[in-house]
Amino acid sequence: MSDYRIINTNADNIGGCSHCGNKNTNNLGHRRKTNWLRERYAEGLRYKVLRSKKFGDVGMIEYALGNHAWRPVEADGYPVIHCLWVLGKHKRKGLGSLLLQSCLDDARKSKCRGVAVVTSSDSLMAGSDLFLKAGFVSVDRTIGSSEASAAPYELLVKKLKKAAPDPRFIVEAGRLFKRYRKGLTILAADQCPYVAKSVERIADASRTLGLVPKVVRVGSANASRELPTPYGVFSIIYDGKLIAHRPISATRFRTIMRRNAEQTGSTERRDRVPVDIRTSLPRRR
Ligand SMILES: CC(C)(COP(=O)(O)OP(=O)(O)OC[C@H]1O[C@@H](n2cnc3c(N)ncnc32)[C@H](O)[C@@H]1OP(=O)(O)O)[C@@H](O)C(=O)NCCC(=O)NCCS
Repeated sequence: MSDYRIINTNADNIGGCSHCGNKNTNNLGHRRKTNWLRERYAEGLRYKVLRSKKFGDVGMIEYALGNHAWRPVEADGYPVIHCLWVLGKHKRKGLGSLLLQSCLDDARKSKCRGVAVVTSSDSLMAGSDLFLKAGFVSVDRTIGSSEASAAPYELLVKKLKKAAPDPRFIVEAGRLFKRYRKGLTILAADQCPYVAKSVERIADASRTLGLVPKVVRVGSANASRELPTPYGVFSIIYDGKLIAHRPISATRFRTIMRRNAEQTGSTERRDRVPVDIRTSLPRRR
């Protein structure tokens, strides 16, 4: 344990830090995350890095107070944990718990109502085990029902004030589905350093399918809380329907689009050049 220490980052020292194991400061996702963080500190966001003398940055925790949280939850007076992450070979040594404890200590000092976190068994999010062990309880969950949101998301809370109201999900899909009812729209925030690469790959893949993707940068916590997924910082909407609720690979995107085309039985669209989604091969003339 003595090899590890928690660094409180700020606009001055964030420059050299790794983000989720990515040290490459030339990487687009890394750069955007760093800039995103620089804009967030003034809003009270905390980004703590777990640094090993021997291995460099091997973990992190990020959280923001409910009204500045980039997750679609109503959690007034609760810091909401965006991310908790520990690098592979450093796991199961109590380091995740150490980072979580440091967030709980902050919340206590600031007299917050408690701490909330969105968890999922899906990738790019911490599962619930560590939080349950630390005394968190589940207060809300979304049911994974479609291919776009197969894994359920769970909202957990550890209350520091017993009588405080429970936080809850406020995932409201209708409005954005209406706004983006035609074509392919990728909504993406810089909060997650993996988003930039995923957007690039999906945009390229969609062009090979003859689609013209519209990429919308999600630039505020409020906009992020309007996204139709508990993940909050990424969504793909196709013809008014959610087809991905978190960053995905180009292969996964193509599979989803192929299944979608098979289900709807239609490949004709006004915003497309004539390419068949089912095969990705140009149509015979
Ligand atoms: C969740 C995570 C942070 C836990 O970190 P960790 O350093 O291994 O956690 P700890 O060693 O403090 O574990 C504490 C307890 O949590 C539970 N726990 C942690 N990871 C677990 C797992 N994979 N399966 C079951 N229980 C687990 C256990 O009860 C564990 O106690 P134990 O080792 O005495 O049984 C780490 O597994 C991780 O980074 N996962 C990926 C998260 C992710 O994708 N984040 C998104 C990037 S932002």
